[in-house]
This record gives sequence, C-alpha cells and structure tokens, in this order.
Amino acid sequence: MQSLKGRQRIPVLTAYDYPMSRLLDEAGIPMLLVGDSLGMVVLGYPDTTHVTLAEMLHHTRAVARARPRALWGVDLPYGTYSTPEQAVSAARQLVAAGAEYVKAEGGAEILPQVQALIAEGIQFMGHIGMLPQHVVEEGGKYRVKGRDEAGRQRLLNDARVLESAGAFGCVLELVAPAVTREITEASRDMLTIGIGSGEDCDGQILVTPDLIGGFPWFTPRFVTPHAQTGEAIRVAVTDWANSVRRRSAGAPTAASPTREK
Ligand code: KIV
Repeated sequence: MQSLKGRQRIPVLTAYDYPMSRLLDEAGIPMLLVGDSLGMVVLGYPDTTHVTLAEMLHHTRAVARARPRALWGVDLPYGTYSTPEQAVSAARQLVAAGAEYVKAEGGAEILPQVQALIAEGIQFMGHIGMLPQHVVEEGGKYRVKGRDEAGRQRLLNDARVLESAGAFGCVLELVAPAVTREITEASRDMLTIGIGSGEDCDGQILVTPDLIGGFPWFTPRFVTPHAQTGEAIRVAVTDWANSVRRRSAGAPTAASPTREK
C-alpha cells in the first residue's frame, strides 16, 4: 500500500459488517477500517467514547467473515490503550479476530504504546488532528486543528514521531489544509489519509454511511453524499407496507400462494 504514495490517491472507507465489507471490497476499495464511528452510525451512541472492545471485536469478526482482499484494520476503542501493555492486549485480540492493522488516536503522547504495538509486529495507523475519542474534553465540538502556529507545530511533530516509530499510515482528521500539505510532503513512507482536511493527502477516508446517505440524521459539512440509501429504504418500506395494507384480508395473491390440496 505504501508503494502508492505519491503515485495514486487511495480511497479508504469504513466497514462495520459482512455485507458492506463485501460490497466495498467488490467495488475495489483497497483499504477498509472498522472505525469506532460505528458507535454513532450503527450503535446509536452520542460519540465514540462509549464503544467497548467487545463491540469492536463483534464487528471485526463480521468483517473478517467477508474475507476482504483490501487491507483492513480496526480502531482501538476508547480506554483500551492507556498503557503499552493494555494497547498490546487489545490489539492482539483484534488481530486474532482478523484485523490486519490497528489504529489509535494521538501523537507523541501515545508513542510508547505505538512502539509496543510495532515491536509486537502489529501494523499501526495513527490518527491526529481532531480526535473523536477526546470530543467530550473538547466540549462536544469537532474543531479544525492546526490553524494557529502552536497547533501546526504540534501536528507536524506528532506526524514525525508516528512515522519514525513505524506507523504505515496516519489519518488526518479536520486538519487545516495547509498543514495537511506540509505533513504529506514531509512524510516519506507514512501514508496520510485525510478526512475533512483538504485534498493534499495520499488518500481520503469517509465514514461509509455519510457517503451513501445511510445515516440521514447527520452529515458532516465536508461530505457530499453520493447516494441516499436512507431515503431509498424509506420509499421501499413504505411501498411494500402499502401493498400489504391494500390487499383485502384473506384474498390469495401472487405473493401468498394457496397450497393445492
Ligand atoms: O472511526 C472512524 O470511522 C474513523 C475515521 C473517520 C477516520 O476514525
């Protein structure tokens, strides 16, 4: 995957279950993530801090059953990588369930955890910029990072530290586009995968339900949905329910054949 750096932009999408993993894989998406965004778009939590390791394992096993050809990995959920030992224990369970890489949020402050994971031979993807697992500390707001000089320096340093530790990639979430460009240009081996961070990354990631209108109650402002599956479901379900209601009770129809005696 790293050989694509500087040659071809990489589309990355989230997958949380068997059918979506198969569909994305069949569409040729080369990299998938079982993101802890599933907390909101699948499980109905207000943010990712409620997602447990047991829940991530459940979804990891579902994706593994689809046997994606894509490189696919899983988020270490909130509270599972406070120490290097914890990180390795959680990551081992996700890898045993099928994950090919793990992702965790943070830069220099989680360096010992990243080093421990890589020493275990576990492929690691970083995540810097807006960190959804810290949204509560951020007062519930998803804000762009790197707009001021201190923020810019912190992001450049975090990216450098993660690359030196051996991260093969790093998600840049809501990073000021000029800083995204700087990080991408400065990273020799590490793939930068942006979300809401401008165009100058090695790849782009989206939460799949955002892309396909599958969570119609909220769409991030930087996403243009390419389908309206939520609306398609509403139409299909309403049509079918109306057709059931229109049938007179007891009358046989093509959909409910009577059995020959
Ligand atoms: O949880 C997730 O889906 C993510 C992506 C948005 C990068 O971390």
